[in-house]
Amino acid sequence: MLRLTVFVSGRGSNLQAIHTAVSQRRLHAEIVGVVSNRSASPALEFAQTQQISRLSLEDKQAQQQGYEILAFLEQTRTDFIALAGYMKLIPPEVVTAYRHRITNIHPALLPSFGGKGMYGRHVHEAVLSSGVKVSGATVHLVDEEYDRGPIVMQRCVPVLDDDTPEALATRVLEVEHTIYPEALQLFAEERVELQGNRIITRS
Ligand code: GRF
Repeated sequence: MLRLTVFVSGRGSNLQAIHTAVSQRRLHAEIVGVVSNRSASPALEFAQTQQISRLSLEDKQAQQQGYEILAFLEQTRTDFIALAGYMKLIPPEVVTAYRHRITNIHPALLPSFGGKGMYGRHVHEAVLSSGVKVSGATVHLVDEEYDRGPIVMQRCVPVLDDDTPEALATRVLEVEHTIYPEALQLFAEERVELQGNRIITRS
């Protein structure tokens, strides 16, 4: 059973998908905390309706954030962190404390179309203008840089001839909502093994 804290910035649809998977027992976890870098996010409102402990970092100085986050994680006895649309880098002291126990979801097939500035609509615009015929979603472990770190799970969607960034985003998001709980369940079952930069899933 994972004690999970989810980091969010905005809409929170992945948070809701994870929450649904927990309630349907597809994911053996408890969401013990939600951390947001914005105090007025729908994701944080959702957490409030579910009476989940919350931390907003909006008014916090950069140097203070690592300390605040670690205190919150300790208080909620978090043992795993899922970034779900979190738009900031995780302070290095948090990455160190939770190394190999932090995942992120990215709306493209990494290592393509990732890195700083590659978020939201920008990702899907870049995918379309590159001319690739498939896109998808990636769940990966988090390290000190954006969108790097060993890949836990990926799933493809087709890029269609008449796609707009919005249409593609919608198709990818549906896949995100499926694979994020599935990937987290691999950690709950302790089936994830790191071999160099590769993640091997034990059966
Ligand atoms: C998702 O597309 C996720 O891949 C990206 O940010 C978006 C967050 O959406 N990292 P939501 O807040 O979970 O609805």
